[in-house]
Amino acid sequence: MTSYAIFFLGTALVRRDSVPRFEVLKNPYIATLTLLATGKIMVVLIDLTVRDGQQSLLATRMRTEDVVKIVEVLDRVGFYALEVWGGATFDAALRYLGEDPWERLREVRRVARKTKLMMLLRGVNLVGYKHYPPDVVEKFVEYAYRNGIDVFRVFDALNDPKNLELPTRVAKRMGAEVQICIVYTVSPVHTVDYYVKLAEDLVHRFEPEWITIKDMSGILKPYVAYELVSRLRKEIGVKIDVHSHATAGFAPMTLLKSIEAGADAVDVVVSSLSMFTSHTPAETLIEALRGTPYEVNVDVNTLFEASKLVWEIRKKYREYDYALKNPPVDIRVLQHQIPGGMLSNLLAQLRELGAEDKLPEVLEEVVRVREDLGWPPLVTPISQIVGAQAVLNIVVGRYKVLLKEVRDYVKGKYGTPPAPVKRELVEMVQSMVEEEREEVVDLKRAKKELPRDYVEKFEDYITYALFPDVAKKFFEERKSRRFIEVLSRYGQ
Ligand code: CO
Repeated sequence: MTSYAIFFLGTALVRRDSVPRFEVLKNPYIATLTLLATGKIMVVLIDLTVRDGQQSLLATRMRTEDVVKIVEVLDRVGFYALEVWGGATFDAALRYLGEDPWERLREVRRVARKTKLMMLLRGVNLVGYKHYPPDVVEKFVEYAYRNGIDVFRVFDALNDPKNLELPTRVAKRMGAEVQICIVYTVSPVHTVDYYVKLAEDLVHRFEPEWITIKDMSGILKPYVAYELVSRLRKEIGVKIDVHSHATAGFAPMTLLKSIEAGADAVDVVVSSLSMFTSHTPAETLIEALRGTPYEVNVDVNTLFEASKLVWEIRKKYREYDYALKNPPVDIRVLQHQIPGGMLSNLLAQLRELGAEDKLPEVLEEVVRVREDLGWPPLVTPISQIVGAQAVLNIVVGRYKVLLKEVRDYVKGKYGTPPAPVKRELVEMVQSMVEEEREEVVDLKRAKKELPRDYVEKFEDYITYALFPDVAKKFFEERKSRRFIEVLSRYGQ
């Protein structure tokens, strides 16, 4: 009886850090001794300011020079890791800022001397919106690691293990740390049981260091988080991290309940780029935990310094600032579940079609399209696909036009949907005559197509394979920039 009680105490209360989680689970005496020796439960924080923070609130427009300035300070705070790359940042840098994302990563690595750097990887969609060929996936992960990424946070929109396999294997082979996401959504098929089973399966298959609960829409409610994290804590032997957007206002409560349930880490941003569709402010969480058994080892003065700097920099990006045009809390997200960054996208699409007033109808249609497609979680690229089809359904008529991406989805090209796709849709797709095959750009083709004088480094081929048109334009401009640089040097 006594040993059972000690075991329970040990597994329930002691965080890892000094003792690996597997050891804790296997050896209740180590766990209990650690708790008795320190009296503290360690919680680590992962900072998302320059990736998800600016992606959620500043339309991913933050330039490399600003990112680097911020990282230089964040590096001294004591975060477990800084998320600095991936998601939309790669595409946005190239497309809107005329910047080389690889250069950004190198610059960031140069100033981040103490803290691990993390990236968000969309499984075999990498940092794009479709499945890429294996050689592109492999080299992308390899070069991301070589240029400075320590932690790969990998997700698949459909939670399909097949789409996580290759990037995870390469990251592990390179010696990186892997966080596998379970993408959180609410639907008749997505229950706590479903997620526990999914996490068990993913841990068994990939042996990641972490499981991250990825709540991209901010719909994970505090008490559900408590139940989910508690169940995961009991069933899986790896560290648990919780990622929850503040869109519906739940995030700070959700993180607190997750910590109480035994999460090892939670995701935060500096206060000056927090809340709305972004994340929980680090400062607030740290103060909330002060004087409790939960210990967060960070330098709050440096954190204030970072927050002040981010506030100054944020002012430059006013025209993209989500917080200036939207209310702080959107509880409707519980129904439509559209991630923050996408809502403004939908509105822009409707405006172009002269149907801005149709937004409420479109949001209801999103739910129906999701159901028809077997309840996929709404996250890139599926969120964009479902959103665009819903717009078409409302503006043109239900499934009068079927997006190519939806046809591909129905054919299983994005992976296995959580529940079966509606029969009518399957039949509709089967009856359609398929047009020419989609062209795939692998590295061999990239090497063939890209003019030699456009290429400065191997990573350029990867960039081209990811976004051929955007990359080509970027390389063209870079070439003329270099030319002018040379000329001006001679002019002096
Ligand atoms: Co996010």
